[in-house]
Amino acid sequence: MRRVIAGHLSRPARILVPLAESLSFDLIVVGAGPGGYVAAIRASQLGLKVAIIDKRPTLGGTCLNVGCIPSKALLHSSERYFEAKRHFPDMGIKVGALDIDLGLRMASKDSVVEASVKGVSYLMKKNGIETFVGVGRVEGPGKVSVSGSDGEVLLLEATSVLLATGSESMTIPGVTADEKKIVTSTGALTFSSVPKKLVVIGAGVIGMELGAVWSRLGSEVTVVDVLDEILPGFDGEVRKAFRRIARKDGMAFSLGQKVESLVRKGRGVEVVLSKVSGDDRTTLRADAALVAIGRKPFSEGLGLEELGVARDERGFVLVDDRFATSVPSIYAIGDLVPGPMLAHKAEDEGMAFAEGVSGRGTVPLGAIPSVVYVSPEIASIGDSEESLKAQGRSYRSGSFPLSASGRARAMNVHAGFVKILADAQTDEVLGAHMIAPGAGELIQEVATVMAFRGSAEDIARTCHAHPTLAEAVREAALAVDGRALHI
Ligand code: NAI
Repeated sequence: MRRVIAGHLSRPARILVPLAESLSFDLIVVGAGPGGYVAAIRASQLGLKVAIIDKRPTLGGTCLNVGCIPSKALLHSSERYFEAKRHFPDMGIKVGALDIDLGLRMASKDSVVEASVKGVSYLMKKNGIETFVGVGRVEGPGKVSVSGSDGEVLLLEATSVLLATGSESMTIPGVTADEKKIVTSTGALTFSSVPKKLVVIGAGVIGMELGAVWSRLGSEVTVVDVLDEILPGFDGEVRKAFRRIARKDGMAFSLGQKVESLVRKGRGVEVVLSKVSGDDRTTLRADAALVAIGRKPFSEGLGLEELGVARDERGFVLVDDRFATSVPSIYAIGDLVPGPMLAHKAEDEGMAFAEGVSGRGTVPLGAIPSVVYVSPEIASIGDSEESLKAQGRSYRSGSFPLSASGRARAMNVHAGFVKILADAQTDEVLGAHMIAPGAGELIQEVATVMAFRGSAEDIARTCHAHPTLAEAVREAALAVDGRALHI
């Protein structure tokens, strides 16, 4: 087992008694993803003696190793490639034959991951956090064992234990992902050649992002979903508008379809679909299939059952306002607990936990931005029109199309819009939904206003630099009151 004490590697004895001073901590964090490592840093900043355990020697969890960071690297480069191919001619830029060296591209993506995970190790050392590489298991309140890949087991003690083990991909019953032909998001980040045909099962965030990567690089992508529309949970207008954009960019959709079977066949895969609303069957053959039908909390081998830690029917660990589980001194955050499965939600919970915040005031689940890194980006925060209608809440909506933005036109962007929803009586911003280049950055303005419980009028009265895409946010805020200037 590898144990890093403030930067030094040391080999522990085969089994250590948990009384040694060095193996007693104020806090043990299990899982070094964005939730766990941020909690560890904040707790250490506040003076606690902290240990962190992860089964991967490269810290950073799913997000840094096989999630957000590598996928954004591939999204970024494939977007540049697609832009050069599809849009440069419109801007009068002539290039010769375009090609992509996938081997080089993957190597550069891997180096982005390496730099990111090294960054987390550096932060652990900088903050004096002791790192243990191995599988953590809670043996009892305040007691955690760590099993290394070499069979060594350590027993650590702490006043509090924080579980931040994240989530894993869900699978279709009876289907095993070999990560070569039938892949989860992990395998879809490491194809050694561009699949000529790719079936994406699940039109959620992962399906749309990784489907876009391979579609831009030349795959014929068909996205299948049981639902009749893509991106469940997003505002209805965004869902419809983005499906049109994705279709125009070359993705095909087969919606309202159940997967009857998915098997490897010959050098590729075969997927049999049947209509949700009938018996019609379709067979798709492709070089590979990506299964992206959601993620589930990862708690295997953590000892939760034996301890009696309460979970809901989907396996999420139930916690109170202070992230305390049903077992004293054991806490949980991030994808392991209910709420959006997002790295930034886990980070915020990590900070709030470490600060011992009573009440979840600092992590308002309703004001967590969500971004889909497709092109143009989709960003969303707060309520959608559908959720406001369901609550029976009266609201006003203001929209501004990017076709009316000078900056968007100069960027050769014509599709997309910004929509702001505000309370009909108080004008408090309740939600915002946008499709725009850099929407993930634009949404932050609205997130800040929502954090202060500000109004659409607050955004409308704030001076926005010209020419910027941020002006579209202001125009949408003006439109809430029916006084947009440029439409
Ligand atoms: P998702 O929950 O976003 O979408 C899953 C989709 O699969 C849904 O549209 C659902 O209707 C469909 N589906 C479920 N079972 C199916 C079946 N048997 N056949 C066909 N379709 C089926 O899940 P996804 O995309 O796997 O993402 C998992 C989690 O990771 C999400 O919570 C997401 O928010 C998070 N994530 C967020 C990212 C971001 O914020 N940019 C990036 C990647 C992941």
